[in-house]
Amino acid sequence: MSGDREDILDNYQEIRKIDVQGMLEIVEDFPNQCIQAVEIAKGTDFSGVSGPFSCLLVQGVGGSGVSGDLVKALVEEALEVPFLVNKRYGTPGFVGESTLVFAVSYSGNTEETLIPLRDILFRGAELICLTSGGQLAAFARQNGKVLIELPGGLQPRAAIGYLFLPLLLSLGELGIFKIEEADLEESLEVLSDMAEALAFRTPARDNQAKKLAALLWGKLPIAYGSEGISGAAALRWKCQFNENSKIPSFWNSFPELNHNETVGWELLKDITRRFALVLLQDKKGRVRNAQRMEITKELVKKQFGLVTAVKARGESPLAQLLSLIYLGDVTSVYLAILNEVDPTPVERIRALKENLARLG
Ligand code: F6R
Repeated sequence: MSGDREDILDNYQEIRKIDVQGMLEIVEDFPNQCIQAVEIAKGTDFSGVSGPFSCLLVQGVGGSGVSGDLVKALVEEALEVPFLVNKRYGTPGFVGESTLVFAVSYSGNTEETLIPLRDILFRGAELICLTSGGQLAAFARQNGKVLIELPGGLQPRAAIGYLFLPLLLSLGELGIFKIEEADLEESLEVLSDMAEALAFRTPARDNQAKKLAALLWGKLPIAYGSEGISGAAALRWKCQFNENSKIPSFWNSFPELNHNETVGWELLKDITRRFALVLLQDKKGRVRNAQRMEITKELVKKQFGLVTAVKARGESPLAQLLSLIYLGDVTSVYLAILNEVDPTPVERIRALKENLARLG
């Protein structure tokens, strides 16, 4: 990196002039948030929840709902029952007495998460609530449901460790899907190893997140992963580019994108040369998807202003997933700083909720 603009990423005073509410510190602290999140999960009493369950459903949207997508990516292939992430007001018809529902809303006040809950309880489903408070915490208490209460004061998307890990680890407590202790330890180690390398103290020449942000600056990132963990991470990257960096971004995953989106990278080159293709690569995924990624890159690379690949760290799927989330989150904040936009406020979401509330 050479230009003046990129130099800003090595200047903490300048960073804080833009990142007024300190989003960078919060995302940098992800490893510690994950350690605390594990404690929260281990400290929760699930004895009142009794299966067996014929279906698992996560009800939540935005930065909260994505925790369901991430958990699903990790566990789905090992589960004997369906796992659904529901991001709508409507409840699927099969939800009934043998369904386990996780209602996930960091604020606890999101209507798409709250509105279906009465119906879900009426149908006799079991319910676990994850929130930092609000109406969802009150609902859990009133109905005697398990409440995983999370520390408050963050933007929901910045609380991803608190939302994701207790959701995942509760599946172990309930005998549905167990994360091995060794994998958990490895994951926390990988994150702590990454922390110094991504921190603002580490100069741009040695800092992967700063370098990536500088490459992406002025471009529209298209994040591609593969079915499973890197695909779920691609969704997270897209959302963080939207909400932190305040730019359009899109995501997709292999193999499906080869059957439609790949063809779309043919025309409109004057537009797509301002796009950057970011390929998120996991280890131990399906070889066929890795081959697809390589072939696709060759087929479409001339259409993009930039093509870059990012490799997951660690060995276990959990470590790899968390490593991709960590890198994407920090990169999105550095990109916000290059864009000279405060990463924390999400004015459009606030205005939308306010306008809807006015309509009653
Ligand atoms: C804001 C964010 C949003 C919220 C969403 C739902 O940081 O990430 O996507 O997550 O508006 O709100 P909660 O998560 O409180 O249910």
